[in-house]
Amino acid sequence: MNSNCFILAIESSCDDTAAAVINNGVILSNVVATQKIHEAYGGVVPELASRAHQQNIVPVVHQALRKANIDKKQLSAIAFTRGPGLMGSLLVGTSFSKSLAMGLGIPLIEVNHMQAHILAHFIKAEGQTAPNFPFLALTISGGHTQIVKVNNYFEMDVIGQTIDDAVGEAFDKSAKILGLPYPGGPLIDKHAQNGNPKAYPFTKPKVSPMDFSFSGLKTAVLYFVEKETKKDPDFVTKNINDICASLQYTIVSYLMDKLKNAVKTTGITTIAIGGGVSANSGIRKVLKEAEAKFGWKTHIPNFEYCTDNAAMIAMVGELKYKNGMFAKNDVVASARMKF
Ligand code: KG4
Ligand code: ZN
Repeated sequence: MNSNCFILAIESSCDDTAAAVINNGVILSNVVATQKIHEAYGGVVPELASRAHQQNIVPVVHQALRKANIDKKQLSAIAFTRGPGLMGSLLVGTSFSKSLAMGLGIPLIEVNHMQAHILAHFIKAEGQTAPNFPFLALTISGGHTQIVKVNNYFEMDVIGQTIDDAVGEAFDKSAKILGLPYPGGPLIDKHAQNGNPKAYPFTKPKVSPMDFSFSGLKTAVLYFVEKETKKDPDFVTKNINDICASLQYTIVSYLMDKLKNAVKTTGITTIAIGGGVSANSGIRKVLKEAEAKFGWKTHIPNFEYCTDNAAMIAMVGELKYKNGMFAKNDVVASARMKF
């Protein structure tokens, strides 16, 4: 690949419209337009997300090119998120990318969003070191919770996953019960930092060793809050820090239990996390501690590459470009795209 290869990447799988430009593993621009409209509804409204992508995509792409200081005529290829995600959202990024690539007469590269969360570790950036193969990836987001055995860039096996809600949903739905606005994950994290993690014990759901279940936890929080507010209507307001700390402690130690099981099963001790929930301070802390405690080598992406972004799509785009892995012109968005 010549060093003047510039790839534009577009991400529109959920409620963030994002574009980025990459050159030799270095991100030249990384623009994200987060859709505020969903806050009022306490969760992502698919039709509104799709409409907001339509409005955002041209200015976001324009800004990404401007920040990277390149002209669209210099682009070597367009990478886009094909799936998984919300169909109406994916369609906007997919059709825009296809038209732009066709118009410019350059190749199109399809990217799996979950693979991108994992391969974000290979972006060349200060504070990031690429994991050595094979490694275990814990992908934790609002839509997914998986443990993936990563053999190389393109060979990945899902060895554990949630049987119901994703961990991000557990954070967001619990936050909603506590009266916190959407998305509640970061707010639970914020309150947790000033609370006692052992104040209220929540039971960890039981499923097979490397799988996850989170729907019971949300119900447990609901019953707990209902019971306590009957005794004291101000219970949640008075104890928000301790409730959040206890909830976060339960979720983080549950994730760690599953990772330990995966390490035991595979013998792999290099761990990389990805997805929005990897921004959580609790999981970041215990993973760092695991290096000294269990001899693991852990990789945590820079904050800007944790939540949904197009830089990670650009990284996969570049790896696929190097390997001549291009999409056909009739490629379509895939809401349930597998690895
Ligand atoms: O990867 P992402 O940006 O979008 C999806 O593909 O889902 O992940 C968003 C999820 C949301 O559920 C959000 O609450 C959660 O990541 N999240 C957090 C934190 N930051 C984002 N959860 C817990 N603690 C955080 N600091
Ligand atoms: Zn994501």
